[in-house]
Formats: sequence, C-alpha cells, structure tokens
Amino acid sequence: MHDPKRSLFDQAREDLATARRRDPAARSSAEVALLYPGVHALWAHRAAHKLWHRGHRFAARALAQIARSATGIEIHPAAKIGQRFFIDHGMGVVIGETAEVGDDVLMFHGVTLGGVSMNPGKRHPTIGSDVQIGAGAKVLGPVTVEDGAKIGANAVLVKNLPQGHVAVGVPSRARDPRTDPELMLDPTIYI
Ligand SMILES: CC(C)(COP(=O)(O)OP(=O)(O)OC[C@H]1O[C@@H](n2cnc3c(N)ncnc32)[C@H](O)[C@@H]1OP(=O)(O)O)[C@@H](O)C(=O)NCCC(=O)NCCS
Repeated sequence: MHDPKRSLFDQAREDLATARRRDPAARSSAEVALLYPGVHALWAHRAAHKLWHRGHRFAARALAQIARSATGIEIHPAAKIGQRFFIDHGMGVVIGETAEVGDDVLMFHGVTLGGVSMNPGKRHPTIGSDVQIGAGAKVLGPVTVEDGAKIGANAVLVKNLPQGHVAVGVPSRARDPRTDPELMLDPTIYI
C-alpha cells in the first residue's frame, strides 16, 4: 500500500516502469509519461486523494472530474489505491468512493468497481494484490477479490472471488415479477 515516505519522483518513476512492464507496446518512459491516460489518471488521483484527506473535498472532486474529462477514467478521491497500479487504455473506468485496490493490480478499459447500494458506508469492492481485471468487467458491491485472482473481460462479479481464482461470465438470470414470490412482495417493482 501507499508509503508516505517515498518521494513523488520515485513513485512516478515506478509508475512509468510499471506501464512499460505491463504494456508490450510501450516504447519509452517519455512516451508513457506523455501519452498514457492510465498513468495520468493515477497521478491526478494521488493529488486528489491528498486534497481529500486534508479536508479540501471540493477541490479533490474538481481535480478528479478534470482528470476524468482528460482520460475517461473516474477515480473517486477517497478510493484507496496501492502501488504499481496500471490501467491500460483507460477509457470508461469508474472506481467508487469506498473501493480499495491492492498492489500490482492491472486493469483494462471499461472496468467498474461500483456500488449496488445507495446507503453510505462501505459499498464498493476490495481488490487484493496481483489481481487482473479484464476489459469491461464490472465488480459490484462490497465484495472481496483476493490476491492473485483474475476477472475475465466483460465478467460481472457480485460475489467474493477467492485467492488465485478466475471469474468469467455474467451472473444475470431472468425472473418473472408476475410469478416470482420475492419480486411480487416488492411494491417498488412496476409490472
Ligand atoms: C479470464 C481470462 C483471464 C482467462 O484466461 P486463462 O486463465 O488463460 O483461461 P483460458 O483462456 O484458457 O480460458 C478458460 C475458459 O474460460 C473461457 N473464457 C476465457 N475468457 C473468458 C471471458 N472473458 N468470458 C467468458 N469466458 C471466458 C474460455 O473460453 C475457456 O472456456 P472452456 O474451458 O469452456 O474452453 C482471460 O480470458 C481474460 O478475459 N482476460 C482479460 C484480458 C483483457 O481484458 N484484455 C484486454 C486487452 S485490450
């Protein structure tokens, strides 16, 4: 996790090395520093996270929104992000307020670490270290993805994923509100 004693320069150098290690198409650190939205979003998040914890919450949200406009990656300033995080391609990533991401996590475009509850409190996923999250995957609710797990492209994960496991597919299933007793009891569902 974040080591406050490390200089920003050391962290930035590590971010560039991480991107080069993770993306075979990366040709130089200068190219990564100038052209990689995942790296720009991470740097903006570090600044926004500091502002958030110093009480400058509006400024933190504003910075996160500017970064979103520039990169297509929305990371809530309160989200906790570990070391050597890399988002490849970036566009369409959303990381919610109470999400936690461990070290050495690789994520592709279109990933959501989202909530399913409107109640405040822990409502976003906790991602362990050395986890890979494929393009378009949605991880929803306060679920835990343990170390070394992989989530396939376009998977929808709504349950805990044990260490080293691979999750693929979408768990949605059809339920008929006219015959399903659980749905029939819910007055908010309009038939
Ligand atoms: C999930 C993933 C990590 C699995 O990799 P793997 O462990 O090498 O597994 P395999 O490719 O051998 O596939 C194992 C099984 O899962 C299936 N599978 C793999 N990925 C899948 C996916 N995203 N959705 C649904 N099924 C998938 C395969 O068809 C195979 O099924 P079978 O056993 O019935 O033949 C990988 O397929 C993946 O989705 N990675 C994300 C990569 C990505 O997002 N790249 C974007 C680059 S821009």
